[in-house]
Amino acid sequence: MKWLTRVLLVLLVLFIVAQFFRPSIVVPRVDETKTLYHVESVPPEVRTILHRSCDDCHSNRTVWPWYNRISPVSWWLADHVKKGRKELNFDEWADFKPRRKARKLEEICDQVKERKMPLKSYLPLHAHAKLTDADRGALCQWSSALRTRIIAEHPEAARPAQSK
Ligand code: HEC
Repeated sequence: MKWLTRVLLVLLVLFIVAQFFRPSIVVPRVDETKTLYHVESVPPEVRTILHRSCDDCHSNRTVWPWYNRISPVSWWLADHVKKGRKELNFDEWADFKPRRKARKLEEICDQVKERKMPLKSYLPLHAHAKLTDADRGALCQWSSALRTRIIAEHPEAARPAQSK
C-alpha cells in the first residue's frame, strides 16, 4: 500500500501545482452592431435557443462556471470556448463574408441534426441546453431560409468555400 500513498501524494502535488497555471480568460467586448441579431432577422424563439444552448462557446458572452477556476478543468473549458468562437462567433457575424455565413448556416443545421452540437461533454452540467426535436426543427428552418436569402443576394456564396 505504500506505493499507492506515494502515487496519491504525487498526484496531489501535481494538482496543487496545476492551480498556478490558469488559462487567461478572454472576455471580448461585444460590439452590438456586429452581432448576428443586429445584422440578420432572427425570430425570438431561435434567438432563445441560440442563447440557451450555444452562446457559452459561440459568442463573446460566455458564462464561466465556478469550476472553471480549477485546473485542469479550466484548460479544457478554455480550449472549447477558444475553438468554438474561432469556428463560429455570433457576436462577430458582421465580419463574416457571405460565403462563410452561408456555410456556417448550413453547418448549424447539420451539426444539431447529427447531435454533434451542443458538445456532449457540455450537457451533463448544462441540462437546460439540451435541444428538443422542435428546437432542431426551428434552427434548421431559420438557418436554411436565411442561407437561401444570402445566396440570392450574393450568388458567389453558394460555391463551396476553400477556407473556413
Ligand atoms: C461546450 C461548447 C460548445 C457548445 C455549447 C456548442 N458548441 Fe458548437 N462548437 C464547439 C467547438 C469546440 C467547435 C469546434 C469544432 C469541434 O471541436 O468539434 C464547434 C463548432 C461548431 C460549428 C462549426 C462546424 C464547422 O465545421 O463549421 C457549428 C456550426 C456549431 N459548432 C454550432 C453549434 C450550435 C448551433 C450550438 C448550439 C445548439 C453549439 N454549436 C453549441 C463548441 C460548442
